[in-house]
Amino acid sequence: MAEARENFYSELKRYFKKQENKKEAESVKEIFHRTSIRKYEKKKVEGDKIELLLRAAMAAPSAGNQQPWEFYVVTDRDKLKALSECSPYAGMLKEAPLGIVVCCQKDCRLPDYAQIDCSAAVENLLLEADFLGLGAVWLGIAPLKERMEAVGNVLDISKDLYAFSIIACGYPAEEKTQQDRYDETRVHYMD
Ligand SMILES: Cc1cc2nc3c(=O)[nH]c(=O)nc-3n(C[C@H](O)[C@H](O)[C@H](O)COP(=O)(O)O)c2cc1C
Repeated sequence: MAEARENFYSELKRYFKKQENKKEAESVKEIFHRTSIRKYEKKKVEGDKIELLLRAAMAAPSAGNQQPWEFYVVTDRDKLKALSECSPYAGMLKEAPLGIVVCCQKDCRLPDYAQIDCSAAVENLLLEADFLGLGAVWLGIAPLKERMEAVGNVLDISKDLYAFSIIACGYPAEEKTQQDRYDETRVHYMD
């Protein structure tokens, strides 16, 4: 069984290598390339790229297709600085050319699933950023009340929403290689 799995895994690796230059492989490569990027060039992120990031986010699955997300796109320097102070781990926003604040609707049909839905949107956005040659990092806001309130105040967001997370984004000024985190002891086959 273990040998069969090993063979399958090395087959898969060979497949990805072979597909590297082919169009079909492009959509999945980012999963194995993305890392959190926290240093950015000064260069602005173009409007059409920002729209692609948001399109990718909104292509995510959600419970009952409720799509509870809304997005605040922040490029204003003072606001980015203020956002950087909303969490002890958001310092990179001071220098980032772009912050996308993902918000969640309070009054959606399946509120217990809403943050899970927003997480799916964030991951899609991060993968699209990687595809577009951008670097990004997910900054945790919800469920920590203090951070949610601070972000809400900086952006004066609608009372119907709460801040879920912030994505700091820009052209990368650091290079990182993704760790291989595959751990077969976490997988339980029930054949
Ligand atoms: C829910 C969540 C919250 C996170 N919050 C922060 C954060 O506040 N600041 C930060 O620098 N990185 C944050 N990260 C990024 C993680 O530190 C990062 O994903 C992890 O170290 C793995 O590294 P990788 O993204 O390069 O694979 C967060 C990630 C997640 C999923």
